[in-house]
Amino acid sequence: MAMDRGQWGSRLGFILAAAGSAIGLGNLWRFPYITGENGGGLFVIVYLLCVALVGLPIMMAEIFIGRTAQNSPVGAIRSMSRPRSPWMGLGWLSVVAAFVILSFYSVVAGWSMHYVWLSATNSFKGLSPEQIGDVFDSLYQNGGLNLFWHVVFMVLTIGIVIAGIKRGIEFWSRILLPALFVLLLVLLVYAMTTGGFATGFKFVFGFHAEKFHPARSTLAALGQAFFSLSLGMGALITYGSYLRRDEDVVSTSIIVCGLDTAVALLAAMILFPILFAAGLDPDQSVGLAFVSLPIAFSQMPAGALLGPAFFLLLTFAALTSAISLLEVATAYFIDEKGWTRIKATLVTGGGTLLLGIPSALAGGPGFFGGRLKEATKPVWEGGKNWFDLLEYFSNNWMLPLGGLGIATFVAWRVGDAAREEGFRTGTKLGMLYWGWVQLLRYLVPLGVLLILLNAVGFFALFWGNGEG
Ligand code: PHE
Repeated sequence: MAMDRGQWGSRLGFILAAAGSAIGLGNLWRFPYITGENGGGLFVIVYLLCVALVGLPIMMAEIFIGRTAQNSPVGAIRSMSRPRSPWMGLGWLSVVAAFVILSFYSVVAGWSMHYVWLSATNSFKGLSPEQIGDVFDSLYQNGGLNLFWHVVFMVLTIGIVIAGIKRGIEFWSRILLPALFVLLLVLLVYAMTTGGFATGFKFVFGFHAEKFHPARSTLAALGQAFFSLSLGMGALITYGSYLRRDEDVVSTSIIVCGLDTAVALLAAMILFPILFAAGLDPDQSVGLAFVSLPIAFSQMPAGALLGPAFFLLLTFAALTSAISLLEVATAYFIDEKGWTRIKATLVTGGGTLLLGIPSALAGGPGFFGGRLKEATKPVWEGGKNWFDLLEYFSNNWMLPLGGLGIATFVAWRVGDAAREEGFRTGTKLGMLYWGWVQLLRYLVPLGVLLILLNAVGFFALFWGNGEG
């Protein structure tokens, strides 16, 4: 085993690190905006089902693989099957997905950093909600500014990953996650005082089917569950590999899923009431969090303080997720190629930095923005730019396919005895074993496959379809 492998300091350290990976822009930026696009209520129900029935069993499977093999995805799958087994394609998919996701993730994290600056300099004071929306639009279109923050964020991420698994990742997660949680509760109390709370609450928890497209929205819910829980690309295999062999996979997964879902729902309960109170439409696309929150901060009593604090914590939440993404590719080079941690991180981080450049420029008029949007309009409904395309394909396709592979691998390839022993080690929840295996064997692969086939219009071939 390579010398540069580390271990978590404690079980709590691992939970915080895994929660740090899961909780990030996926919860606070993406969940609310995707919920808004899909009309609220019904989408949220489908999302919760995806988390409980697909996400949770896969999370257990990933942490189980990592902890058993004590190796990063490619090596882990090799050691649990055989060299050159086709299952190793899963490991490769992980490394590619990690690069792709981090490349646009960093751009969004850059927006958050820019908003630390904007709110610290009180830029939203006295602006109307529409003007606050314009502030986001002009940032979105400003390629140079996006590029600048993307580079800053990648440099920070690289720095922490170089510092190594325990000192870097665990240390930060321990302090900053609880702080984020507290600030979210403060914001929730504020959202309750706005006139929009009842409407917002009904939007998130009511049953709204108008904007819900059976094929597209179900795929979006599934993809969001994978993205938010950091599943399907080996992040939790990699983190699990720094876990001692006798740690409890089962309750750890339940805790991490629960925390992640709580933060996503909290975010939605904060953001939508603020939008409704300001008379804005809940379908605000990628800018939702960056419009809704500044409106609140511009009106709250302590907004000038809370604004910068919030975006700073959001940036840290994004960092703890980004380091888990970068760690996947880095661990691959350390474990498989015997590189030093410094070299591996510089190469993977540098590569991601370059790959992110088109995403940083995507809001502008150039090829990666406007022209790509126009050229592909008939193909990708709504016309997507480079950023949108990467986001769509990695979250909705690569992650579910990766998850499908992991579930199938653990359920059908790993030996019964090893799987059962692995599940039961260290946990008091051994009675869940049977259910876990059934989910991984049948419901997860079938469900994911049906959703993917349905999304490409497969079933519409047989019994027509009602949507475009
Ligand atoms: N789960 C992270 C978030 O919600 C993003 C992420 C995806 C991290 C996949 C690692 C792997 O922000």
